[in-house]
Amino acid sequence: MAVVISSSGNSQVFEGKMTVYVFICVIIAAVGGLIFGYDIGISGGVTAMDDFLKEFFPSVYERKKHAHENNYCKYNNQFLQLFTSSLYLAALVASFFASATCSKLGRKPTMQLASIFFLIGVGLAAGAVNMYMLIFGRILLGFGVGFGNQAVPLFLSEIAPARLRGGLNIVFQLMVTIGILIANIVNFFTSSIHPYGWRMALGGAGVPALILLFGSLLICETPTSLIERNKTKEGKDTLKKIRGVENVDAEYESIVHACDFARQVKDPYTKLMKPESRPPLVIGLLLQFFQQFTGINAIMFYAPVLFQTVGFGNDAALLSAVITGSINVLSTFVGIFLVDKTGRRFLLLQSSVHMLVCQLVIGIILAKDLNVTGTLGRPQALVVVIFVCLYVMGFAWSWGPLGWLIPSETFPVETRTEGFALAVSCNMFFTFVIAQAFLSLLCGMKSGIFFFFSGWIVVMGLFALFFVPETKGVSIDDMRDSVWKLHWYWKRFMREEDEHDVERRTA
Ligand code: BGC
Repeated sequence: MAVVISSSGNSQVFEGKMTVYVFICVIIAAVGGLIFGYDIGISGGVTAMDDFLKEFFPSVYERKKHAHENNYCKYNNQFLQLFTSSLYLAALVASFFASATCSKLGRKPTMQLASIFFLIGVGLAAGAVNMYMLIFGRILLGFGVGFGNQAVPLFLSEIAPARLRGGLNIVFQLMVTIGILIANIVNFFTSSIHPYGWRMALGGAGVPALILLFGSLLICETPTSLIERNKTKEGKDTLKKIRGVENVDAEYESIVHACDFARQVKDPYTKLMKPESRPPLVIGLLLQFFQQFTGINAIMFYAPVLFQTVGFGNDAALLSAVITGSINVLSTFVGIFLVDKTGRRFLLLQSSVHMLVCQLVIGIILAKDLNVTGTLGRPQALVVVIFVCLYVMGFAWSWGPLGWLIPSETFPVETRTEGFALAVSCNMFFTFVIAQAFLSLLCGMKSGIFFFFSGWIVVMGLFALFFVPETKGVSIDDMRDSVWKLHWYWKRFMREEDEHDVERRTA
């Protein structure tokens, strides 16, 4: 049984337990996160494989053979970066379509569409015989990511019993990190399979894509999505099934009530531009910018490349990436455990200091000891790896999961899908920017890149300190009264009484 505070301010008791069926649904849906993570992790390893470079990027391969000539620039090639980053640009565009299919068709068909995009994309990329097939394959994978990342977190939040919503939401990020780790392990083994190891690595994403496609036949649509689309009887039956009890009247009524109000909002995007939407919108979008400007994906995409840059051989570099991947997974559990105890703000602030120190140490060692030519000494290289690991740890329990959790819990129901779609596409945009620019930045700024990210970490820490309120334990429909109206800065955007209050009074 779960007690939540409804939007009408009454304490409500929702009956229900965490059923096996919900557990199965959560695992299947979160496979969408696993594919996202696999795609993030696989490209760094593949772009470090000689067979792949010889086939598609011969000039990069030639430059790499003379790596000692320029440590920081050996991989700098716009097309090579496009291979990694095209996926995120496609995902950015796709998330707007995904928001529409999520509302019109439902969360489940949106996930099924994602798995179909994934499967075709995997086939094209793994079977590529020219650059066009390769990039087109990545674009279709990007469509899969756009549809999956829109539908899965919403599905998880809506299907979860209220009291477990936070933890279950972070299962998405956990799966992302597991996907990255699996990709790193696959990279490690396939890099020694010649000449088609890279095809096996890219093709590996087909396995979770098939699990998502067939698994999604077993899962249900969320009650909110059914009721929103006027399938009220089916919505109530589904609610009974997922909660495992006959009496779901209180929760059913609260969903009907929220959907009735949401239906009155004819144009959610116009509503999002109104001042009262400013706090979740600004925070939701800036968190995505900051999440990417921690520099995490410079590490995630290019860890093997980065480790080679500081003097590790091919295999050692991939192995170090496996280590970073494992630390990423394990540290996410810390986030799951702490997020509802210490709160969101503590994690954001602690990790800002923590990541800042790591980036500075890495930057200082590289600036001092890694010349443009030559290699880093073993001890220094080891210290770099250790600080990369510590840095990943800090990210994994804070800006990683919270970048997805906070936007999913702060928009009111009437703008939730649209607000979340904007946040997803913003995340994809900045992921694209980092993926496209990192190798050039590394080449141009050399070790200065780490000071560049350090600067942003200071800015985001200050933003969290002054502008991100604590949302721990606050009911998802109560943000306006319990959070925004009380915040020193955001309260100025809240009118004393708006249509929400009028509706509440007359309800
Ligand atoms: C971010 C990804 C990142 C991953 C690392 C996610 O939350 O959105 O861009 O690669 O975390 O674990």
